[in-house]
Amino acid sequence: MSVSVEQSCRTANEKRSVGAYRTRDSAVVTLTIGIGVYMSSIQIDRLPTKATATGTRMPIPAPRGPVSALLISVLSGSDGNPTAFTTAARGLASERDDRSIVFDDDAQLSLTMLYELHLQGLDRVSDAWEWNVDLLAGRAALEAPFEAAVREIAAAHHQGSDDVVSKLWAMTAPSTGPSMSKFMATDATAEQFSEVLIHRSLNQLRESDVHTFGIPRLAGAPKAALVEVQSDEYGGGRLERMHSTLFAHTMRELGLSDRYAHYLDVVPAVTLASLNVLSFFGLHRRLLGALVGHLCAVETTSSLPSKNYSAGLRRLGFGSRATLFYDEHVEADSVHEQIAVRDLAGTLAEQDPAMGADILFGAAACLSFDDLLAEHITGSWDRSETSLRSSPTRE
Ligand SMILES: [Fe+2]
Ligand SMILES: [Fe+2]
Repeated sequence: MSVSVEQSCRTANEKRSVGAYRTRDSAVVTLTIGIGVYMSSIQIDRLPTKATATGTRMPIPAPRGPVSALLISVLSGSDGNPTAFTTAARGLASERDDRSIVFDDDAQLSLTMLYELHLQGLDRVSDAWEWNVDLLAGRAALEAPFEAAVREIAAAHHQGSDDVVSKLWAMTAPSTGPSMSKFMATDATAEQFSEVLIHRSLNQLRESDVHTFGIPRLAGAPKAALVEVQSDEYGGGRLERMHSTLFAHTMRELGLSDRYAHYLDVVPAVTLASLNVLSFFGLHRRLLGALVGHLCAVETTSSLPSKNYSAGLRRLGFGSRATLFYDEHVEADSVHEQIAVRDLAGTLAEQDPAMGADILFGAAACLSFDDLLAEHITGSWDRSETSLRSSPTRE
């Protein structure tokens, strides 16, 4: 039996229609833009979707210093004192009042756990901690120097502009120089691919969730545009097409665990910091513009690198099950970037011109932290070292 779904929409600049034709064992999606048929078709097997990868809680990590140790003792229910955590977090924040907080394992791991209380939660941790005032005070203490560092780091990518749309395109234009994705296409080993997937897994196994926080905070055209992008990210409501599901396939094909946050203990502070930047934007309404800008940077810098990642995996002999996540992003994000920049950010800046600077800040922060992570990874490889803190367990 087959089912067909047709969906069409009109944005400010173009008409798109998306047709998805489902059969019991496979799914084919074609995208049509304007009057011409555009983009290749991607076929995926529906089985096994093995949804266990997502929707699970973050395991409690090993501590990386006194502050994260105190937080873990509070969350795990062993006689931890929330007030003592707050005091310790304030002490650490006062010592790390520059960009060093970005590379501080204790601070970044603490922020990751505190943010996770608002997302999928931590394993065997009561959800009541989400709004505990002592934990919130500790989080705020750490966020103050973190925000200052993010703003300082992002400043290198961002100068003010009246025209948000053109500035976003200019900031995210592909570079002609060497890049990590080009290296992945031509030279990376399977082990290096695994490392990159591990770094990315904390975000990709819940891909899009934090950007979704923008939906209830927006209204009108920007809201409709964000819903349109997010609908694709969540596979149009189909588990087997959710981008997080596709990423889980890639991890399994490379022999990695697809369990949510399974690799938390082996990723360094800079990886957690890039994750925490997004959570920080997503959990503060005052930073809605930055959250939108972050999404714009994600969407506009995804399509070409995804092509390179896919080519690299195929060069190493991996099949379509491993490359599907990237193949999907080559196609989807060439559409999403238009929606995000023009229909979301552009109309938001028209609605509220004061948002423009925040949108550009968020995009610059995303690009800056991507660069920091890439520098860490490639720098480690140049020294013939792993970019991870230790060898991961495969599960
Ligand atoms: Fe995606
Ligand atoms: Fe996308």
